[in-house]
Amino acid sequence: MTTTTTATVEADLIRIIGGIDNLPTPPIVMQQIQKVLNDPAASAYDIGSILQEDPAMSARVLKLTNSAYYGLVRTIESVRQAVVIVGLDSIRSLVLSASVFEAFSGKDLDRELQEHFWRHSLAAAFGARLIAHSLTSRQTFDAEAGFSGGLLHDIGKMVITFYMPEPAQDIKQLKIDFPNLPDHELEDRVLGYNHTQIGAVLGERWKLPANLIETIRYHHAPRLTPTKENGLPYLVHTANHLATFTFDYDAEADTYLEPLHEGALEFIGGNEHDLPVLSQRLREEYSRAETFMEMARGGH
Ligand SMILES: [Fe+2]
Ligand SMILES: [Fe+2]
Repeated sequence: MTTTTTATVEADLIRIIGGIDNLPTPPIVMQQIQKVLNDPAASAYDIGSILQEDPAMSARVLKLTNSAYYGLVRTIESVRQAVVIVGLDSIRSLVLSASVFEAFSGKDLDRELQEHFWRHSLAAAFGARLIAHSLTSRQTFDAEAGFSGGLLHDIGKMVITFYMPEPAQDIKQLKIDFPNLPDHELEDRVLGYNHTQIGAVLGERWKLPANLIETIRYHHAPRLTPTKENGLPYLVHTANHLATFTFDYDAEADTYLEPLHEGALEFIGGNEHDLPVLSQRLREEYSRAETFMEMARGGH
């Protein structure tokens, strides 16, 4: 790939992704919610009204609101009530989660990989929210943007699994041969590009906010983020590390654990002593997140 310029790779990718006809599109309600949330005058009532137009989405949002994760004492029965109880920003995360699960579920390809993918993505999402709430940083992080970034950071891998089945098999084989290499390197070897670039192109198509697209693109290289004031790639980079360390890392088998990039902890305002504590808390939080996982598996 040394002879190919980055611009050519990006142009190729847009062409390849553009050529996948049945690539999932997000539900209209997700875009409406994003738009309304950018309006400072938006109220819980407005969001509730939009959600009510989509009964399937409303049902999913209610199911997640009533899940063990929020630990509410009484059952929430309407989306308007849900918006008031968990807050506008959390509703945005729930709508995004339900939308992404919907868009990428229901395919029978490589169940084991899908199961692992969603576990990791949810762990990174909960991890990013946890870090954003726990650490005192010189900049404050939007915890719900962190959740979205964690959930979507590796979404390009789902595009490879579902829409590029042959390279996906080659990548899987390489992973068996080289368990201590990062996935993005294996993908680069097979495809000439990797899940960070594919995910960013998907994010553009889905009209996700720019800071989220940058996060998907730079979660393995946060220092290269073009918008210097966007700290989200650092947050999600750290959450990715925390999620892998907590749930996947096998020291004896020497599996791959991406080291935290220099400056990541300083950037988000923590130090390495925070990591074991956060890891323990992530385990606890994650044990209450089974409803999210059920939905990711394609349950309604
Ligand atoms: Fe990744
Ligand atoms: Fe990841």
